This record gives sequence, structure tokens and C-alpha cells, in this order.
Amino acid sequence: MTNIIPIKDRLAQKSAINGKAGVAIMSDALEDEKVIRLVITHYNSITCENEMKPEIFLGDAPTYRVDSDGSICLDDNGEPVLQFDFSRADKIMDYIRDYNRKNPDDIIRIRGHVLVWHSQTPDWFFREGYAAQGAYVSKEKMLMRLENYIREVISHYDGDNSPYRGMIYAWDVVNEQIEPEDYDLTENPGSVRFTCNGKTTGWYNVFQGDISYISQAFVFAARYAPKDIKLFYNDYNDADPVKRDAICRLLKQIKETGGTRIDGMGMQAHYSMDTPAVGLIGEAVRKYSSVVEEIQFTEFDIQSSRNYDGSNKEAELQREGYRYKEIFETIFCLDKETGINITGITFWGTHDAVSWLHNFSDVGGGADGKRPQMPLPFDDDYKIKPAYWGIVDSFKLE
Ligand code: GLA
Repeated sequence: MTNIIPIKDRLAQKSAINGKAGVAIMSDALEDEKVIRLVITHYNSITCENEMKPEIFLGDAPTYRVDSDGSICLDDNGEPVLQFDFSRADKIMDYIRDYNRKNPDDIIRIRGHVLVWHSQTPDWFFREGYAAQGAYVSKEKMLMRLENYIREVISHYDGDNSPYRGMIYAWDVVNEQIEPEDYDLTENPGSVRFTCNGKTTGWYNVFQGDISYISQAFVFAARYAPKDIKLFYNDYNDADPVKRDAICRLLKQIKETGGTRIDGMGMQAHYSMDTPAVGLIGEAVRKYSSVVEEIQFTEFDIQSSRNYDGSNKEAELQREGYRYKEIFETIFCLDKETGINITGITFWGTHDAVSWLHNFSDVGGGADGKRPQMPLPFDDDYKIKPAYWGIVDSFKLE
């Protein structure tokens, strides 16, 4: 790794990105020394790829907190108190806390992901009695559950006695609630997503199109999170003009609701080789910046070309290098514009072999219905690719 410029240094040097260069990892990465080396060399921020999602904290079926006499604890609403399982995320938190103690001048911080989402959230969480079947709860009850959930998670990490206090610098409070395929945004400018994989979402099943749970999530996050933890709305297809404008309307609505705090827009940046055009990325950054203070690119990766079938890999890697270059140059320039405050870029995975796109069956092309994916700056063998040079030193591209 000697003589290799760390991505975090390049980002800090090229712009005001405050040095937040991040990467998503899963807890099994801690077992892989090569991954750890990539993380500590190139990044100073980590997102847990899955470990802080509701389905991991809540589990497949509910478990309840019990008193010393063995009886189930009840909350103020008479509902059983849920027992959260933080163990998988805390494995990562413990590792990083230990690393930070040994490396006080080079610490790694954590992007919390994610408090409210329709996906990777158990259906029982929305039902009466936390049952697997049966009626969904009322909106009022769901808001109480939401408040309990957000309080429990935030205080586990930043409560007075938490060993992890101060490690998390941002939370994705709400993820992916605008879906133009669900409705005509011109006719229904205030609607939010109601389906996921052909089914109605838990949030829709309870709220029936009322979107108060989104703003309320920001009220609760503002209530329980320390002031210096930044609160984000996060979404994909972030540069699409129709979706972008709908997101801006939602961000404004959140801001205008009493008791909320929203600091930033998380552009997931799951981009492709050809789309979106960099001009649209720029326009999106400017529009979001006119509503919220900060922009972060939160899940950056690039899908391979539509017609790429695995042959002529070198040409595809070079093409990807240039695609990285044009996007990063755009970001670096944007960051210098007045009123734009890009405070971090996170890559969705350390290296190609562990990318969620690697085995994603839905991306088309290729003999087996898949295109081999190479979305990240480091290859299957943890080695630098042209994509890395596209960020760090584009003169090295052929
Ligand atoms: C979305 C989510 C992420 C992750 C990716 C796919 O972008 O925000 O947590 O699940 O999908 O891996």
C-alpha cells in the first residue's frame, strides 16, 4: 500500500469535503485483514451495510424485555417493551472504538444507517400485538412505536452511559420514500412511496398515504440525538429531475413541520456508466442545497455498461475510470460553489467482490442474465483499478 494516495487525503485536498471519505462494510469484514487495511488506509468514516437496519435490531420475531421477576416489561401505552439486538452493529462499533483509541490522530467515525425504511423492516413491527398476522395498528400507536424505536437506537449509541458516545456523526433518519413509479407526481405532488416489490409497505399499511410519519421521524430524531449528529433524508435516483423535485418538496415539508431538524440530503449515488449525466448531478446538488445545509453522497458505486458481458474487461475498466473522473471532477467543482456544502462521500463496499451488485440478478445483460459488476475503486483482489485513479489522479488513466 506504500506510495498509494489515500482516497481520504485526495478528497480532503481537492475540496472542502471535511475529510469525510466513507465506506460501507459488513461485520464479517472485520475478519478480513485485507479489507481492514483498505478501510484504514483510505477512509475515515464507516456505514454498516446492514447491521443498523431495523430488521437486524428487531429480528424476525419480537423479543421482549423482562423484569427481574421474569414478567414482560410494559411501556406507557401498555405494549410490551421490545428487546433490541445491537450485537451485530456493536461488533463493528467495538472494533472501531478500539482502533480509535490506538490511533487518536486518525480516527474513524460512523454514519448511522437507517432509522425509517420500508425495506429490511419486519412486517410484525406494524401489526397489533406485534403478531405475524392480523390487523395493522393505528397511526397513533405506530407513532408511539416509532418514537420508542428512535429513542432506543439513538440512546444506545449516544445516551449518557453509552460506550459509543460521539462515534456517530450522522443518521439517515428516513430512507427512500419518493417513488415516481408508484404514482403520477404531477397529479399527486405530495404523495410518497406505497409499494415495495409489488406489496404495499408497512408504513403505507398503517398510514394509508398520510405522510406524517416522515416528519415525525425527524421530530423524534431531533428530540433524542445530540445536536452535533447531523440528520439526513436519503434516497436513490437522486439526480432524476422528477424525483429530485418531489424530494425537494418533501425536504421542505419536513423542515416546515414544528419540532423537526433536518440537516442534509443523502444522495445515494448508485449510478451507472452512462446515467445520470454529470450536469444532472450538478443540478440536483444545487436544488437540494437550496433547501438543506449539507449534501453527502452516501452509497456511491457504478453499474457496468449495459452491453458489457465480461469480454474486453480492460476496456470496460478504463471506461469506468473515466466515468469516475467526470463524476469526481464535477463534485470537486460543485463543492467550490457558494451555498454548496458537500460534507462526505461514502462508497457502497470496499471492493468489487463484496459489492451488493456483484450477484444482483436484476441488472440484465450477459449470458446468464447478469452483467459482471465492477462498481468500486478496488477490484476482487483488493487492488486499485482505473476507477481509483479517476478519483485520485486522472493523469494515470490511459
Ligand atoms: C439501498 C439502501 C442500502 C442498501 C442498498 C443495496 O440503497 O439504502 O442500505 O440496502 O439499497 O445494497
